[in-house]
Amino acid sequence: MTGKIYIVGIGPGASEYLTKKAIDTVKMSDYTVGSTRAIELFDDVQNRIAFNVKDLLDKLDEGVKLAVDGNTVSILSTGDPGFSGVLNTVLRLSRENGFPEEEIEVIPGISSLQLAAAECHIQWDNANVMTFHGRENIEDILPVINNGKTTIALPSRKVKDMAKFLIDNGVEPERKVTVCERLSYPDEKIVTGTLKCIAESEFTYMCIIVIEP
Ligand SMILES: C[S@@+](CC[C@H](N)C(=O)[O-])C[C@H]1O[C@@H](n2cnc3c(N)ncnc32)[C@H](O)[C@@H]1O
Repeated sequence: MTGKIYIVGIGPGASEYLTKKAIDTVKMSDYTVGSTRAIELFDDVQNRIAFNVKDLLDKLDEGVKLAVDGNTVSILSTGDPGFSGVLNTVLRLSRENGFPEEEIEVIPGISSLQLAAAECHIQWDNANVMTFHGRENIEDILPVINNGKTTIALPSRKVKDMAKFLIDNGVEPERKVTVCERLSYPDEKIVTGTLKCIAESEFTYMCIIVIEP
């Protein structure tokens, strides 16, 4: 008998942004796969399969195989699974393991991008929304950066390197930028300054960058 896979968005990190649907889904799942930090958000977890950056693919594959064997498996994704999340990877592993896509359900979560837009009072349907996370497509920002819209992006590299890249490619160093770091965590930091000033500052990898038109 085929099981079920839920790909569960857990929001930006704080438990107050978990949805009831995410909590209920994890509670009734036989197994829950996720980073240690993500699994710890849930009080009621039956069998935990924690991954780190190195064994992420192996653990996701283990989760898919457990579903092939008839189990209900929740796979946790930070923010929303469909925005730089694990959705495509889980779909691919499911195809490779012969697990039917109709037995996969995606539970949306609040993306870090949405929280950044809310913090900065941005109507994000009219913004350039981009992700460079885990990719080397940073050049894709250049054709849109001067199109008169706010750009909200997940950086691919250090925020300061991204700011330097933009300056090196002709973007005005005095352009206003906001960096939203560790959103929803107790040590959340929101810094607004010029591109030049951001290029000289240190941030962790957990940032959203908002570049004004
Ligand atoms: C693998 S991507 C996951 C994005 C996620 N699916 C989402 O919708 O937010 C991880 C990147 O998302 C951003 N991110 C995730 N959580 C964040 C938070 N609480 N505050 C700021 N940025 C965050 C950072 O750029 C981080 O490097």
